[in-house]
Amino acid sequence: MEFVARVSLMAIPLYLCNSLALVFGGKRPIDFGKKFFDGRRILGEGKTLRGTALGIALGTMGALLVKTAFPETSIFLQSDYLAYGFLLSVGAVAGDFIESFFKRRFGVERGKSIFPLDQTDFVFGGLALGSILVVPTLLEWVFLLAFTVLAHVIGNWIAYFAKLKQNPW
Ligand code: CTP
Ligand code: MG
Repeated sequence: MEFVARVSLMAIPLYLCNSLALVFGGKRPIDFGKKFFDGRRILGEGKTLRGTALGIALGTMGALLVKTAFPETSIFLQSDYLAYGFLLSVGAVAGDFIESFFKRRFGVERGKSIFPLDQTDFVFGGLALGSILVVPTLLEWVFLLAFTVLAHVIGNWIAYFAKLKQNPW
């Protein structure tokens, strides 16, 4: 029960932040179009100011709503869920940025996915930064990473069969 509560509390801001950054992604890139020493973009067009700001804001807001509805969150986390939700969200975006940064350094184009890193960068980043307040157990780390990869794979197959995608990956 405690495991389920904790991984759910971890997943909510992580998934909200990541998916809403995608939904609300804007136009102005957060690297302002600037290039790194290697002549390639620092992060690229896929990391926008709007997506970043709204992802963090709404991921944190999700934690606030859950905290208000279920005041017991601190029993499971031994920490304030609003503060933790904020760290999870900022970390999620940071993990995504770091992954993008290295993709550009290796010449990988924006939007080209490196499985399973692209699917899990936000989980790594969020749980890592969140560790300032809540240290996940090894099982929680493994579960959240595996669940995230599995959800992507299943989601893509559903989208393929629903003819929303050309291929199942
Ligand atoms: N997005 C955004 N701001 C962010 C993160 C994501 O605006 N901080 C939006 C962008 O429209 C982006 C989309 O969400 O294209 C999907 O995000 P992601 O898959 O992480 O980016 P990619 O386009 O694949 O870019 P990259 O190759 O740099 O990972
Ligand atoms: Mg990414």
